[in-house]
Amino acid sequence: MRLHHQKHHQAYVTNYNNALEQLEAAIAKGDATAVVRLQSAIKFNGGGHINHSIFWKNLKPVNEGGGEPPHSSLGWAIDADFGSLEALVQKMNAEGAALQGSGWVWLALDKGFKKLTVKTTANQDPLVTKGANLVPLLGIDVWEHAYYLQYKNVRPDYLKNIWKVIDWKYASEVYEKETA
Ligand SMILES: [Fe+2]
Repeated sequence: MRLHHQKHHQAYVTNYNNALEQLEAAIAKGDATAVVRLQSAIKFNGGGHINHSIFWKNLKPVNEGGGEPPHSSLGWAIDADFGSLEALVQKMNAEGAALQGSGWVWLALDKGFKKLTVKTTANQDPLVTKGANLVPLLGIDVWEHAYYLQYKNVRPDYLKNIWKVIDWKYASEVYEKETA
Protein backbone atom coordinates (compact mmCIF):
# COMPACT_ATOMS: atom_id res chain seq x y z
CA MET A 1 0.00 0.00 0.00
CA ARG A 2 2.90 2.36 0.72
CA LEU A 3 4.31 1.73 -2.76
CA HIS A 4 0.83 2.07 -4.23
CA HIS A 5 0.37 5.44 -2.50
CA GLN A 6 3.87 6.92 -2.86
CA LYS A 7 4.68 5.72 -6.38
CA HIS A 8 1.49 4.98 -8.30
CA HIS A 9 -0.85 7.60 -6.83
CA GLN A 10 1.98 10.15 -6.80
CA ALA A 11 2.59 9.59 -10.52
CA TYR A 12 -1.06 10.43 -11.29
CA VAL A 13 -0.82 13.63 -9.25
CA THR A 14 2.47 14.67 -10.87
CA ASN A 15 1.20 13.96 -14.38
CA TYR A 16 -2.10 15.68 -13.70
CA ASN A 17 -0.32 18.82 -12.50
CA ASN A 18 1.97 18.74 -15.56
CA ALA A 19 -1.02 18.43 -17.86
CA LEU A 20 -2.75 21.38 -16.15
CA GLU A 21 0.37 23.52 -16.61
CA GLN A 22 0.46 22.61 -20.29
CA LEU A 23 -3.26 23.37 -20.51
CA GLU A 24 -2.76 26.85 -19.08
CA ALA A 25 0.00 27.51 -21.62
CA ALA A 26 -2.16 26.18 -24.46
CA ILE A 27 -5.10 28.35 -23.39
CA ALA A 28 -2.83 31.39 -23.12
CA LYS A 29 -1.63 30.79 -26.67
CA GLY A 30 -5.13 30.11 -27.93
CA ASP A 31 -3.91 26.74 -29.25
CA ALA A 32 -7.13 24.70 -29.55
CA THR A 33 -5.31 21.64 -30.92
CA ALA A 34 -3.05 21.51 -27.86
CA VAL A 35 -6.03 21.99 -25.52
CA VAL A 36 -7.87 19.05 -27.09
CA ARG A 37 -4.72 16.89 -27.16
CA LEU A 38 -4.39 17.28 -23.37
CA GLN A 39 -7.89 15.99 -22.58
CA SER A 40 -6.98 12.32 -22.30
CA ALA A 41 -4.00 13.00 -20.01
CA ILE A 42 -6.20 15.18 -17.79
CA LYS A 43 -8.95 12.54 -17.65
CA PHE A 44 -6.56 9.65 -16.99
CA ASN A 45 -4.34 11.29 -14.40
CA GLY A 46 -7.07 13.42 -12.81
CA GLY A 47 -9.23 10.30 -12.62
CA GLY A 48 -6.35 8.38 -11.04
CA HIS A 49 -6.06 11.04 -8.35
CA ILE A 50 -9.84 11.16 -7.71
CA ASN A 51 -10.15 7.36 -7.54
CA HIS A 52 -7.18 6.72 -5.28
CA SER A 53 -8.21 9.56 -2.93
CA ILE A 54 -11.48 7.69 -2.32
CA PHE A 55 -9.74 4.29 -2.09
CA TRP A 56 -7.46 5.36 0.80
CA LYS A 57 -10.50 6.62 2.75
CA ASN A 58 -12.09 3.17 2.32
CA LEU A 59 -9.24 1.29 4.02
CA LYS A 60 -8.21 0.79 7.63
CA PRO A 61 -6.04 -1.77 9.46
CA VAL A 62 -7.96 -4.59 11.18
CA ASN A 63 -6.88 -3.40 14.66
CA GLU A 64 -8.37 0.03 13.92
CA GLY A 65 -11.76 -1.23 12.81
CA GLY A 66 -11.07 -2.41 9.27
CA GLY A 67 -13.51 -5.09 8.18
CA GLU A 68 -16.25 -4.18 10.64
CA PRO A 69 -19.59 -4.18 8.80
CA PRO A 70 -21.54 -0.92 8.47
CA HIS A 71 -24.12 -0.42 11.25
CA SER A 72 -25.59 2.83 10.02
CA SER A 73 -28.39 3.54 7.56
CA LEU A 74 -25.98 2.40 4.83
CA GLY A 75 -26.07 -1.08 6.35
CA TRP A 76 -29.86 -1.18 6.11
CA ALA A 77 -29.76 0.15 2.54
CA ILE A 78 -27.30 -2.61 1.56
CA ASP A 79 -29.66 -5.23 2.99
CA ALA A 80 -32.62 -3.64 1.17
CA ASP A 81 -30.90 -3.29 -2.22
CA PHE A 82 -28.68 -6.40 -2.34
CA GLY A 83 -30.19 -8.78 0.23
CA SER A 84 -27.17 -8.78 2.55
CA LEU A 85 -23.65 -7.47 2.92
CA GLU A 86 -22.36 -10.90 1.86
CA ALA A 87 -24.40 -10.68 -1.35
CA LEU A 88 -22.97 -7.23 -2.10
CA VAL A 89 -19.42 -8.48 -1.49
CA GLN A 90 -20.00 -11.43 -3.82
CA LYS A 91 -21.40 -9.15 -6.52
CA MET A 92 -18.51 -6.66 -6.29
CA ASN A 93 -15.94 -9.46 -6.26
CA ALA A 94 -17.54 -11.12 -9.29
CA GLU A 95 -17.71 -7.89 -11.27
CA GLY A 96 -14.20 -6.88 -10.21
CA ALA A 97 -12.80 -10.27 -11.24
CA ALA A 98 -14.61 -10.15 -14.59
CA LEU A 99 -13.44 -6.65 -15.48
CA GLN A 100 -11.06 -6.96 -18.41
CA GLY A 101 -7.77 -5.12 -18.10
CA SER A 102 -7.43 -2.39 -15.49
CA GLY A 103 -10.16 -0.49 -13.69
CA TRP A 104 -12.28 -0.09 -10.60
CA VAL A 105 -15.36 -1.66 -9.04
CA TRP A 106 -17.63 0.72 -7.12
CA LEU A 107 -20.45 0.72 -4.64
CA ALA A 108 -22.33 3.88 -5.56
CA LEU A 109 -25.44 5.76 -4.60
CA ASP A 110 -27.60 6.51 -7.61
CA LYS A 111 -29.17 9.79 -6.55
CA GLY A 112 -31.66 9.65 -9.44
CA PHE A 113 -33.15 6.27 -8.43
CA LYS A 114 -32.28 6.71 -4.72
CA LYS A 115 -30.74 3.23 -4.74
CA LEU A 116 -27.37 1.65 -4.22
CA THR A 117 -25.73 0.18 -7.29
CA VAL A 118 -22.52 -1.61 -8.29
CA LYS A 119 -20.60 -0.20 -11.25
CA THR A 120 -17.25 -0.82 -12.89
CA THR A 121 -15.09 1.76 -14.65
CA ALA A 122 -12.22 1.12 -17.04
CA ASN A 123 -8.67 2.37 -16.57
CA GLN A 124 -8.79 5.50 -14.40
CA ASP A 125 -12.18 6.75 -15.51
CA PRO A 126 -13.83 8.28 -12.45
CA LEU A 127 -17.32 7.09 -11.60
CA VAL A 128 -18.92 10.34 -12.77
CA THR A 129 -18.16 9.26 -16.37
CA LYS A 130 -20.81 6.53 -15.89
CA GLY A 131 -23.51 9.00 -14.87
CA ALA A 132 -23.84 12.41 -13.25
CA ASN A 133 -26.18 10.99 -10.58
CA LEU A 134 -23.65 8.47 -9.28
CA VAL A 135 -21.94 9.19 -5.97
CA PRO A 136 -18.99 6.90 -5.16
CA LEU A 137 -19.16 5.39 -1.67
CA LEU A 138 -16.59 2.60 -1.89
CA GLY A 139 -14.08 1.96 -4.66
CA ILE A 140 -11.84 -1.06 -5.08
CA ASP A 141 -8.80 -0.70 -7.28
CA VAL A 142 -8.46 -3.77 -9.52
CA TRP A 143 -5.35 -2.60 -11.34
CA GLU A 144 -2.62 -5.21 -11.09
CA HIS A 145 -0.48 -2.60 -9.31
CA ALA A 146 -2.94 -2.87 -6.37
CA TYR A 147 -2.17 -6.54 -5.68
CA TYR A 148 0.86 -7.87 -7.56
CA LEU A 149 3.25 -7.71 -4.58
CA GLN A 150 1.07 -9.88 -2.31
CA TYR A 151 -1.11 -11.81 -4.75
CA LYS A 152 0.97 -11.90 -7.96
CA ASN A 153 -1.64 -12.15 -10.75
CA VAL A 154 -4.45 -13.65 -8.65
CA ARG A 155 -7.03 -10.86 -8.56
CA PRO A 156 -9.81 -12.98 -6.97
CA ASP A 157 -7.67 -13.66 -3.86
CA TYR A 158 -6.97 -9.95 -3.48
CA LEU A 159 -10.69 -9.20 -3.83
CA LYS A 160 -11.60 -11.86 -1.27
CA ASN A 161 -9.15 -10.48 1.31
CA ILE A 162 -9.55 -6.74 0.82
CA TRP A 163 -12.85 -6.81 2.72
CA LYS A 164 -10.86 -7.56 5.90
CA VAL A 165 -9.45 -4.01 5.73
CA ILE A 166 -12.43 -2.12 4.33
CA ASP A 167 -13.46 0.79 6.53
CA TRP A 168 -17.16 1.59 6.08
CA LYS A 169 -17.03 4.90 7.94
CA TYR A 170 -16.41 7.12 4.90
CA ALA A 171 -19.02 5.32 2.80
CA SER A 172 -21.57 5.61 5.64
CA GLU A 173 -20.90 9.32 6.11
CA VAL A 174 -21.23 10.10 2.40
CA TYR A 175 -24.40 8.00 2.17
CA GLU A 176 -26.00 9.79 5.12
CA LYS A 177 -25.05 13.22 3.81
CA GLU A 178 -26.37 12.49 0.31
CA THR A 179 -29.65 10.96 1.51
CA ALA A 180 -30.38 13.46 4.31
FE1 LIG B 1 -4.07 2.04 -7.96
